[in-house]
Amino acid sequence: MQHSVYTPKTALGRWVDARMPLPRLVYDSFVAYPVPRNLNYAYTFGGILSLMLVAQILTGVVLAMHYTADTGLAFNSVEKIMRDVNSGWLLRYLHSNGASFFFLAVYIHIFRGLYYGSYKAPRELLWILGCIIYLLMMATGFMGYVLPWGQMSFWGATVITGFFTAIPLVGEWIQQLLLGGFAVDQPTLNRFFSLHYLLPFMIAGVVVLHVWALHVTGQTNPTGVEVKSKTDTVPFSPHATVKDGLAMVVFLAVYAYFVFYIPNYLGHPDNYTVADPLKTPAHIVPEWYFLPFYAILRAITFNIGPINSKLGGVLAMFGAIALLFLVPWLDTSKVRSAVYRPWFKLFFWLFAANAILLGWLGSRPAEGGYVIMAQLGTLYYYVFFLVIMPLLGLIETPRKTPNSITEAVLAKNKGSAAALPAEVAASAEHKG
Ligand code: HEM
Repeated sequence: MQHSVYTPKTALGRWVDARMPLPRLVYDSFVAYPVPRNLNYAYTFGGILSLMLVAQILTGVVLAMHYTADTGLAFNSVEKIMRDVNSGWLLRYLHSNGASFFFLAVYIHIFRGLYYGSYKAPRELLWILGCIIYLLMMATGFMGYVLPWGQMSFWGATVITGFFTAIPLVGEWIQQLLLGGFAVDQPTLNRFFSLHYLLPFMIAGVVVLHVWALHVTGQTNPTGVEVKSKTDTVPFSPHATVKDGLAMVVFLAVYAYFVFYIPNYLGHPDNYTVADPLKTPAHIVPEWYFLPFYAILRAITFNIGPINSKLGGVLAMFGAIALLFLVPWLDTSKVRSAVYRPWFKLFFWLFAANAILLGWLGSRPAEGGYVIMAQLGTLYYYVFFLVIMPLLGLIETPRKTPNSITEAVLAKNKGSAAALPAEVAASAEHKG
């Protein structure tokens, strides 16, 4: 943690500083705060996520003013928002597409962390707080999707809560607790609405802890080498603020394209039909951001000893998420960044491709070749974390890392950028 360099300039500033030094905290954290000078655009997604969280809360709070959490009225209240409420269509499309873009940003953020080894000591707690945020985001997204009370809302909730019954002894009790009864109905809608409103504020609370932990350890950078001297860093403002700002504008432009031109592209047409407990849709699919886990859930079609296939699927799915928490201890490599780990880099990109493949498989019916592919994808997911990560760290010969960030950046200017891995050279070039 760096020493405070804030000096209030006005009498009022000094008065506040002596009583509650909030401006000092903001100045030290977002103005003078030193960040590595070679951060690339992959490091802008934390800022983008903060923006999306605020956007979701603001649009959500206003939507809640017009929404009615009653099974007989919910669907129509959403249609009323779309047609009668001033700019209601905009609010709703911002919020529903916002959820997708929030998840898109969090996936890029997580994959960035995996690539650059952000989770390694001393940033384990920072990573774990991120995993908790991700869990809360999934719960929030799942419950939010139930609120419009369309066919997919109802049947998605029925299928997912049904999986809990596979858990021995407490499974049925958990399912009833989630539903508030024996089937998806009014009590379910009430508790989902209540929790969907509450959880984003809990996410905001964990984000504060996340950023606090970040400011204790400082950020990593593409080289994976820690900050060693003052020349390795630049002040947060204007360097990071401008870079984050530009990334936000580009991200918002793509988000706006979806909102204004293809607002239902990421949704499912079945959710424009009111929930009918007597009519099961042909295919029940969750939102795209859950699809890889949905594929894993359905990949286990066989019993494993005393574990039946249903429980096996549930365990495989929850296990896939739980593994993320263990990543700091599964990776045994002393070198942080994938830039200097040729084999890890290869397996990492395979992992990313596999995640996309699993996502696609999650949208397909669980039959024939799709199931076999999902089984292979699930196998690779587990092998990546449980075998490749621990073993590779022990047997891989990494490339030589630079002695410092400054050395990596200046190597470019001395005309020796060719000797540097492409990513580092590109970052060095960017910062000049
Ligand atoms: C609402 C969601 C989240 C917000 C607002 C958020 C915010 C941030 C911010 C502002 C940063 C610093 C800028 C950057 O490196 O991009 C950061 C860094 C980081 N975040 Fe998140 N984050 C979120 C979710 C997550 C999740 C889900 C994970 C992992 C599972 C995660 C793991 C990390 C790690 C490890 C770093 C340090 C990166 C480094 O220095 O290498 N975050 N986050």
